[in-house]
Amino acid sequence: MKENFYEHIIHGGDYNPDQWIKTPEIWDEDMRLMNLAHINSATVGIFSWSAVEPEEGVYNFEWLDRVLDNLHENGKYVILATPSGARPAWLAQKYPEVLRVNEEGVRNEYGVRHNHCLTSPLYREKVRNINRIIAERYKNHPAVKMWHISNEYCGECHCELCQNAFRQWLREHYNNDIELLNDKWWNRFWSHQLNDFSQITSPKSRGENHVVGLKLAWKRFVSDQTISFFENEIAPLREITPDIPVTTNFMWLFDGLDLQEFAKHVDIVSWDNYPEWNVGKDTRTAVVSAFVHDVFRSMKGGKPFLMMESTPSVINWRSVNKIPEPGMLAMSSVQAVAHGADSVQYFQWRKSRGGHEKFHGAVVDHCGHENTRVFREVTALGKDLEKLDGVINRKCESRVAIVYDWQNEWVTNMFCGYNNARRDYQKECIKWYEPFWKRGISVDMISMDSDFSHYDAVIAPFLYMLKDGTAERIEKYVNGGGSFVATYLTGIADEDDLCFLGGFPGNGLGKVFGVWAEETDALPENCCVNASFDGKTYEVNHVCDIIHAQGAQVLGTYESEFYKGEPSVTCNGYGKGKAYYVAFRNDGELAGDFCDKLIKELEILPDADIDVPHGVSMRKRGSYIFVINFTDDEKQIKLNGTYRDVLTGEELNNTVMLNKYGYMVLE
Ligand code: GAL
Repeated sequence: MKENFYEHIIHGGDYNPDQWIKTPEIWDEDMRLMNLAHINSATVGIFSWSAVEPEEGVYNFEWLDRVLDNLHENGKYVILATPSGARPAWLAQKYPEVLRVNEEGVRNEYGVRHNHCLTSPLYREKVRNINRIIAERYKNHPAVKMWHISNEYCGECHCELCQNAFRQWLREHYNNDIELLNDKWWNRFWSHQLNDFSQITSPKSRGENHVVGLKLAWKRFVSDQTISFFENEIAPLREITPDIPVTTNFMWLFDGLDLQEFAKHVDIVSWDNYPEWNVGKDTRTAVVSAFVHDVFRSMKGGKPFLMMESTPSVINWRSVNKIPEPGMLAMSSVQAVAHGADSVQYFQWRKSRGGHEKFHGAVVDHCGHENTRVFREVTALGKDLEKLDGVINRKCESRVAIVYDWQNEWVTNMFCGYNNARRDYQKECIKWYEPFWKRGISVDMISMDSDFSHYDAVIAPFLYMLKDGTAERIEKYVNGGGSFVATYLTGIADEDDLCFLGGFPGNGLGKVFGVWAEETDALPENCCVNASFDGKTYEVNHVCDIIHAQGAQVLGTYESEFYKGEPSVTCNGYGKGKAYYVAFRNDGELAGDFCDKLIKELEILPDADIDVPHGVSMRKRGSYIFVINFTDDEKQIKLNGTYRDVLTGEELNNTVMLNKYGYMVLE
């Protein structure tokens, strides 16, 4: 497998020459402009099914042959897409079963994209067929370096084929035993006992939508069915081009698919990054996009990922689409590289003349020439990226991990109780991530199934669900010397959302944490409850557990309410390690203060001995240190040593100034 086919950071993006098939002179101009912009890669053919198969069984590859040859002659890496993300009208007209059925049982009409049934044997066969033909044609094309499978898989289909496949999935997961399923879903409640798998349908608003076991199973099924669709897509590619790696572009922290599971099926993780820069002066966007990069970076044990899409200028799909300021494109792109991306890729190379995305930013605008601000910024960035070959394939090393688990997120949004208005699992994870980001300490973002043993500390905010084996692995980790931090509502339910009996945190974790959470209180927005930690008082926001220390040391207590004096933060020495329980949610400084103590205690050092002010991030990858200013002020950086500026070649020491939205790469 030639996963590391690139010698330079990939700089390119979605290229849709099929939209310009009637003006092929534009293709030649594209090559001139790509060379000028220091673009070294193009992702071709994502939505090109009707261009390559205009009628059933009639193929037209002349245009694609010429485009790929052009790209090769100009030294570009080609990432060749399979076209299943959208389909030709003839296919939907002749075989309506390929179209999706919505929750109401109504079949969609032809149109848009991502509008296909995940189960339809016919669609699967058509996809395999076109993929096979494309792979056969280009298997030896020297430009083709990677497969881009479909585009941003998403959505679900409720047709009879999918319902049957769901029932089959359930049979396999519940030993073909409806009584087992009844027990797991607690179906005696509201007289929901089922006699047979045939009585089950997908959850829907006019049907069953209160059984969390069913809702979780449906989400898992949709995710598995999408992965199976993907496996069906790549089968001919694996056979014909076994050396060419495959990826598919994941969509942000999209909740519809378990992307941590999906990642196991791709050779290289890639994702599409559209941060909302330019909203307010805080560094929220920088923290959130750093977090998401780290989530994707961690999916394959820290192996580099690709940033498959980002906009070179503006997007078109938010209600108001503000242009990112000059400098933000490079700032955002270099952030991706700092966090483990081996690419900066754009949607899109050239703006469409018509269609839904004609006002979405592109490297080449409707004016058609290179004399634009955006083109100049892309070119300057391309030149900088060419100096970063040394970063390729390098990892970020982390001693700390935060558990961010897709399926735990699903269930935290499904159960009914406590504070139904404020669940915020993602926000909670970001809140615990931010202190490390600010302090220049690399963090891995892992699922609850991951190996904890590499880390000195693992923080698992709001780990409501414990999958089979998770409690045992937490126990083993702490016993072996790890520091594990849990918060309120930890260890409540199992994989089917059945509560653990015998006291929370459940499944044996009570003894690890040395606490019993007897009750959980939910607080309205204006309710003021305080709690302390290490002598400082914090507001309790939204939710808190009322816990009893059963062996754990008390590090803070509630200061009001009927639970005044009860513990709010505890630490239990267990085996060679420590298990912390932070029983309340605080949206202020608690996470930062707590992490400061942990960092000190475990002697976790920042990635480099460089003092960065607020709004500036520091991240080490391999031997390179990336310092990025996310603010609109010039910032002073204190280097406690001598460094080489990789981009300018200069030697730097003492203090240096970093422009607004500026970046430095040091060695
Ligand atoms: C992505 C998608 C692209 C394009 C882009 C616009 O989510 O994969 O095809 O639509 O959004 O921002």
